[in-house]
Amino acid sequence: GVLGIDIGTQGTKALVVDSEGNIQGVGTSSYSFEIPRPGWSEQDPRIWWQAVISSLKILREKGISLSNIRAVGVSGQMHSSVLLGEDGEVVRSAILWNDVRTTEECAEIEELLGEKHVYRITKNAVLPGFTAPKLRWIQKNEPDRYRAIRWVMLPKDYIVFRLTGERSTDVSDASGTALFDVAGRKWSEALMEGLGFSREWFPAVYESKIVVGRVTAEAARATGLPEGLPVVAGAGDNAAAALGNGVFHEGKGVISVGTSGTVFVPLSRVPDFDDREERLKTVHLFCHCVPNTWHAMGVTLSAGMSLSWFCQQFGWRDFENMLSGVQEIPPGSDGLLFLPYINGERTPHNDPYARGVFLGISYRHSAKHFVRAVMEGVAFSLRDCLELIEKVTSSSPKELYLTGGAVKSRLWSQTFSDVLKRRLIGYEDREGPALGAAFLAGLGIGLWNSPDDLPHQVGSIPVITETNAGSASVYDQLYRVYRHLYPSLKETYQ
Ligand code: XUL
Repeated sequence: GVLGIDIGTQGTKALVVDSEGNIQGVGTSSYSFEIPRPGWSEQDPRIWWQAVISSLKILREKGISLSNIRAVGVSGQMHSSVLLGEDGEVVRSAILWNDVRTTEECAEIEELLGEKHVYRITKNAVLPGFTAPKLRWIQKNEPDRYRAIRWVMLPKDYIVFRLTGERSTDVSDASGTALFDVAGRKWSEALMEGLGFSREWFPAVYESKIVVGRVTAEAARATGLPEGLPVVAGAGDNAAAALGNGVFHEGKGVISVGTSGTVFVPLSRVPDFDDREERLKTVHLFCHCVPNTWHAMGVTLSAGMSLSWFCQQFGWRDFENMLSGVQEIPPGSDGLLFLPYINGERTPHNDPYARGVFLGISYRHSAKHFVRAVMEGVAFSLRDCLELIEKVTSSSPKELYLTGGAVKSRLWSQTFSDVLKRRLIGYEDREGPALGAAFLAGLGIGLWNSPDDLPHQVGSIPVITETNAGSASVYDQLYRVYRHLYPSLKETYQ
């Protein structure tokens, strides 16, 4: 089999899949992120490496023999800045993708280099989650640490480095740095120079399935993986999740609900724009982890995170306890509405100061109404993403795959289907990004010749969620109210 490892924001997952697509085993290890100040979000990269070791240990304990593995692929949370010094040690905690401290730096970068110029090269606005503004923030606020930087990497690249000793990145993850020529699938030295960043900091960039190194003796001792095992460049988690769900041709799309929520639509070419209106600029245009393919994406910062926050803070024993009985609450939560902007929002508002809201609270509302309203609010935020993507790409995916933790909840899957008015396909045991990363490993060593040869069944039966027309029309009405809320509240956010 081949091994896929995904470095998530709240946990790491290692998965082994065989050439027919049967998942042989999964090992997971969870952790949390730090919030040093409101709107900030950080994690020490070393916990990811420890989590990789623990997840592989769990796989071994489940009876999976790591010595039969033929290649490894790693995927991970995007944008989060991993900074290493000359000695390969981390210089500071990674500033994560959902950290929104860098609004000022984004504006400065666009000002300094010319907004249209940056846009023409990177195909994206400079948004606070992206990597370049984080580097500029460190330059301004932590000059000593800035001077110590020798390497800049993304989370999965750090794991590839710990496994192989090689420094590399891939086109899908590099797309989210604001320093990448997305159409040319190469670094933009002009942007690096313009910001005073050393070209030397950035590792070589590869297509995602390229073998970039082999497991070293030291990493073999730490992980139990065989020494010399090939490791591919890997991919950002959203691209990997799409590949894991077989989504790399136009006409399909993926809704991924983990800590973040994303809507992902593959493109066979990058749309050509010099400029776009502000809202549309919050749609990302990145390289896919399949050659000659790109994708459009909208990102809600707190999707699964809104529900886990609600679960943690309001005294529920666990998810099951919180969710039981929620299906009895009617769609629309009897008029209770939730805005999931608990840590600011990226698509469509690009507003670090936005915050969560419950609107329309009345005596008839029970605690379970609030739970349902949170689930619906997240679905509305993904509808915002989908509608913007349709505008930017002038196309509309017919088939949507649902992936991430939300697949486990029938109620949430139904809510997404009813709010997005799409039939949803989900695989309860298809582990999105980790499976995509394993697929990349297999493609890298020729286990499969092309993405079209990837196994589709993966030993599991898809769960199809059909839209309920009655609920969809309730949600249509509520969505109109939802869309008015942010503009009315914008002035109050600061
Ligand atoms: C994508 C993004 C998030 C992370 C989650 O732009 O910021 O979806 O990749 O891990």
